[in-house]
Amino acid sequence: MKVNFTETVLRDANQSLIATRMPFEDFAPILEKLDKAGYYSLECWGGATFDSCLRYLNEDPWERLRKIRAACPNTKLQMLLRGQNLLGYKHYPDDVVRMFVRKSVENGIDIIRIFDALNDLRNIEVAVDETIKCGAHASGTICYTISPIHNLDSYVKLAKDLEAMGVQSICIKDMAGIMDPQEAYDLVKAIKENVSLPVVVHTHSTTGLGPITLQKAVEAGADVIDTAISSFSGGTSQPPTETLAYILAKEGYEVSLDTDVLKEINDFFKPIRAKALESGLLNPVVMATETDALNYQIPGGMLSNLVAQLTAQNKLDKLDEVLAETPRVREDLGYPPLVTPMSQMVGVQATANVLAGERYKNVSKEVRNYIKGEYGRAPGKINEELAKKILGDEEPVTCRYADLLEPGIPAAKEYLGDRATCDEDVLSYIAFPAQTEAFFDKRDEKKKNTFSYTIKKID
Ligand code: CO
Repeated sequence: MKVNFTETVLRDANQSLIATRMPFEDFAPILEKLDKAGYYSLECWGGATFDSCLRYLNEDPWERLRKIRAACPNTKLQMLLRGQNLLGYKHYPDDVVRMFVRKSVENGIDIIRIFDALNDLRNIEVAVDETIKCGAHASGTICYTISPIHNLDSYVKLAKDLEAMGVQSICIKDMAGIMDPQEAYDLVKAIKENVSLPVVVHTHSTTGLGPITLQKAVEAGADVIDTAISSFSGGTSQPPTETLAYILAKEGYEVSLDTDVLKEINDFFKPIRAKALESGLLNPVVMATETDALNYQIPGGMLSNLVAQLTAQNKLDKLDEVLAETPRVREDLGYPPLVTPMSQMVGVQATANVLAGERYKNVSKEVRNYIKGEYGRAPGKINEELAKKILGDEEPVTCRYADLLEPGIPAAKEYLGDRATCDEDVLSYIAFPAQTEAFFDKRDEKKKNTFSYTIKKID
């Protein structure tokens, strides 16, 4: 049996450990080796990379993708896409989603992992459809969470629905690192028994379960696992590539990774990690094992957010109350998976409920919109009393939210005029308007400062 590896160092590991601040120049010299290691795919784009390129690194994300493509002609390039939200937090109209997918594929992406925070498949169907139309691989994703309404049957149903939608693989995405080895084994086995597609497993090392969870997932028949080269693995990042390759090869699985090349890659990233530690960009806390998430069943990142929020308000003594309130808010909201943006919404609301001394005295705009149905369908039932209190006589949204949106490309093109040099520019602007305009300003400035002349040929 063969097991395949997706290397996450350029995207999720970069995002989880150093807030996606690795500039292209830092990893450019190792791309050729990454292309030769024998990975099934390189996760290198999407997620927070796009925003970070424009906001912090003064890089054109599309150009980054083209450069990676040019340097890695033999390995599949993979991106993470939040369905109708693309790489942001709101729903975009269908014309924007379709063009974003098409341009991602044109610029070099082979595999698009597509998910919706609520597992509302209506929010990924357009992105999946366009990915397939463009001849790329759509990996239909299940956000893994633990709740009284999520169980093997509900996950198997999601997997079957994804298969019916036409995706080419099923990814189980455990963003919080809370899927234990036995759960992974049972879930992969159940999906493999009911669906005839490759299964990919994505987890994080946050709680320490990660490496064993991946091992058991492979034993249950998982075809691909996500790992990070060891110097950028562990903690909130993925389990280490070399370690999993070692374990699974010993167990008799066929592993097509080249150990010598992996060592070169790891040696390359070691000084980058050291530099990040020294500058403070890499906080040792995110590399540690955080088992509290197992008791509270909430992601480690969410826990540290709650602590930061309460500390800022000098209310850290309320932490236990907030931790007790969090699952109650989640229940009221119909058990959404605690992934962005739901994790922030639930955490902020639980904090507000405790600090105000009255539940839902103050309700954030986001929670209101969620209850209204603007994010999609809640996995379970939203507390009726709460919905009534928030919405009053207002009708909730029951259709696919994007059906209510006007096309977005024409207006953006008209607004940008000559400042957009290509469709990719227009998409960057729609995704992150302020950051992209600031990026355009710097780009225009640079153009003004470089002069060019033609050399007349004399021969
Ligand atoms: Co992840």
